[in-house]
Amino acid sequence: MIQDKALHTTLCGIDMQTPVLTASGTFGFGEEFADFVDLSRLGGVMVKGTTLLPRRGNDGVRITETPQGMMNCIGLENPGVDVFLKETLPRIEKYKMNVIVNISGSAVEDYGELAAMLDVPGVAAIELNVSCPNVKDGGIVFGTDPKMAAAVTEAAKKRTSKPVILKLSPNVSDIKVMAKAGEDAGADAISLINTLMGMEINIETRKPTLGNITGGLSGPCVRPVAVRMVWEAHNTVKIPIIGMGGISNWRDAVEFFLAGASAVAVGTANFVDPSVTMKICDGLNFYLKTHKIKSIRDIVGKVDIG
Ligand SMILES: Cc1cc2nc3c(=O)[nH]c(=O)nc-3n(C[C@H](O)[C@H](O)[C@H](O)COP(=O)(O)O)c2cc1C
Repeated sequence: MIQDKALHTTLCGIDMQTPVLTASGTFGFGEEFADFVDLSRLGGVMVKGTTLLPRRGNDGVRITETPQGMMNCIGLENPGVDVFLKETLPRIEKYKMNVIVNISGSAVEDYGELAAMLDVPGVAAIELNVSCPNVKDGGIVFGTDPKMAAAVTEAAKKRTSKPVILKLSPNVSDIKVMAKAGEDAGADAISLINTLMGMEINIETRKPTLGNITGGLSGPCVRPVAVRMVWEAHNTVKIPIIGMGGISNWRDAVEFFLAGASAVAVGTANFVDPSVTMKICDGLNFYLKTHKIKSIRDIVGKVDIG
């Protein structure tokens, strides 16, 4: 049996064998990785973005490689919340993992509705993806406006007994304002970062590479931005932070803990090595042991800025 005593933690009342989670959209529903990963060893699996109705996603090219990363414009392809509840959730129950459901809406009310529908056994928490446009009201991305991010958080909080995690977008000028808006609206935790908006142009055809023209940048290239934002958020709010953005190995993960994350999530790196999360857990155990640190909790926010 694997000993993860020093990694054990709780976040928003959720018991986690390790503080290493997987980021939404990069790990399916977890079951796809069961041959590579001991799913119960993860702190949780943040499942693919779920919407009220099924979505086909975007047409055309959806993924492109970039230096030290990738860009995607999947367009939230998913089977919809009904199929998730009726088929997926009962099927993945056997893995004994914390299932955190990432939800997206095109109106504030969608988040309330989804949060209410997902207030069922087997769901550990709800993560609000606010990096999508408020189609009903002007098309502004929820996560770039503190009032809208707060409204979405309140709508979800009102309708569920589960912990609500607000996932912040990095496409803002001041992440501290967004983190505070989430905390004040009642979020139990925040997670960050979602992808950074980018664009690539094929110079021969003069056309954008991606079918959606722009896409979300992720992977090692975004890590310094993510670490900075986690640190700023940690200095602003008291609620726990789940840090993510370019984590590919245990050293990257340690950086996020030192910056102020209570847990981390791994995204793009799962595509490179499907068992990377297990290596990160092993590496964190090694780091704590060699530095004679009893618990991962002891290094959260302990960056020495002099
Ligand atoms: C292919 C792909 C699909 C994603 N889908 C979602 C999604 O459905 N909901 C969401 O909140 N974030 C989504 N993300 C963002 C990731 O969860 C994560 O926040 C981001 O990629 C940064 O972490 P990373 O650099 O480790 O990948 C997606 C990312 C990728 C690469």
